[in-house]
Amino acid sequence: MKYMTEEFINKNMMGPSSVIIADELTKNLDLKKGMKILDLGCGMGLTSIFMAKKYNVQVFAVDLWISATDNFNRFKEMGVDDLVIPIHSDALNMPFSENYFDAVISVDSYHYFGNNDTYFKDTLKPLLKKDAIIALAFPGMKYEVHKNIPEEMKPYWEEEALSMWHSIEWWKPKFSKHIKNLEINEMKCFEKAWLKWLNTDNPYAISDREMIATDNGKYMNLISIKGFNI
Ligand SMILES: C[S@@+](CC[C@H](N)C(=O)[O-])C[C@H]1O[C@@H](n2cnc3c(N)ncnc32)[C@H](O)[C@@H]1O
Repeated sequence: MKYMTEEFINKNMMGPSSVIIADELTKNLDLKKGMKILDLGCGMGLTSIFMAKKYNVQVFAVDLWISATDNFNRFKEMGVDDLVIPIHSDALNMPFSENYFDAVISVDSYHYFGNNDTYFKDTLKPLLKKDAIIALAFPGMKYEVHKNIPEEMKPYWEEEALSMWHSIEWWKPKFSKHIKNLEINEMKCFEKAWLKWLNTDNPYAISDREMIATDNGKYMNLISIKGFNI
């Protein structure tokens, strides 16, 4: 990865490689210098660094669990502190003006707070300019498994995680009235992004190895939501 060292990426991953996911998610988007991008639930800021370096955009890097100071230090280390602004905030109550952002990008975090009928339209949408680019990627399911959980997955899927993982059909109505040119797809990078994470020595990655081996491509996926604000 030309934008960050492998060592830096491995140290700061919090799940399946956010940089690999962001690379696929943003590939055909018209992200340009001068745009204001909301990186929603940016974690340790890998996707914010990636977007600042690749597209030369201004990134507002919002996260709840990770402090703004820790992320500021990472942005300085990577030389993007002039372009990326670290913000410690709950996605449910962000300190921004309405009609502010040219784009929102979110990798592996939207499902924590956006898995309901109101978050997009009432909380996120007002902060976006008309026609702003929307690109969200998060873990999901090939179909709704909740009423009939496969026996072999029961030891690995925690109830809380499962309550946030849904199918494309489940997500679609949350966006269809509010996003134009809506595209909802299964992402191609599932295997590559997971493999990179599972090969780290992060204790969460180690405990995920058996889950992904048992799933073996049957149930879990990565979903992308793309389009433009109406
Ligand atoms: C699995 S981590 C992924 C982080 C990063 N996007 C990545 O892919 O490496 C999930 C992130 O969602 C963020 N998150 C969860 N709930 C949130 C909320 N209510 N507001 C803001 N961020 C939230 C957490 O702070 C955490 O960093």
